Amino acid sequence: MSERTLAIIKPDAVKKNVIGDIIHRYEQAGLKPIAIKMIHLSQSVAEGFYAVHKSRPFFESLCTFMSSGSAVVLVLQGDNAIKKNRELMGATDPAKADAGTIRKVHGTNIEFNAVHGSDSPETAQFEVGYFFPGMELSR
Ligand code: CMP
Repeated sequence: MSERTLAIIKPDAVKKNVIGDIIHRYEQAGLKPIAIKMIHLSQSVAEGFYAVHKSRPFFESLCTFMSSGSAVVLVLQGDNAIKKNRELMGATDPAKADAGTIRKVHGTNIEFNAVHGSDSPETAQFEVGYFFPGMELSR
């Protein structure tokens, strides 16, 4: 089933100059970028995006990291896009991620983990809409 998922190439990966490598991996896996932009998240935009993690001890630090530099946000479309992207990314903690996954290759630690991907259809709907109002999406 064709789905859409929201991906973020986080500030650590942008600083490492691996935007191209990561987008190439999406495309090779059949995940087609249908919307893309580079933005510098403010602390409050990061807090709104990660509101579900508000009570976690790492929330403040995560939002500071996410607003520490430019990030690339994308909508990826393809068969089973949500699950496929999570497989491509690997585990949240790069140390536990499978060999060859984006986080294993480009992540530094459980916080600076290079990429984000929606984890369910409900989350994808919220996250895509958070960064891309309907009118901006190509069909
Ligand atoms: P992400 O997939 O973007 O979803 C939430 C983010 O919080 C996660 O990637 C990490 O960047 C961060 N995160 C998750 N768990 C921890 C943790 N235990 N300590 C610090 N950061 C974390």
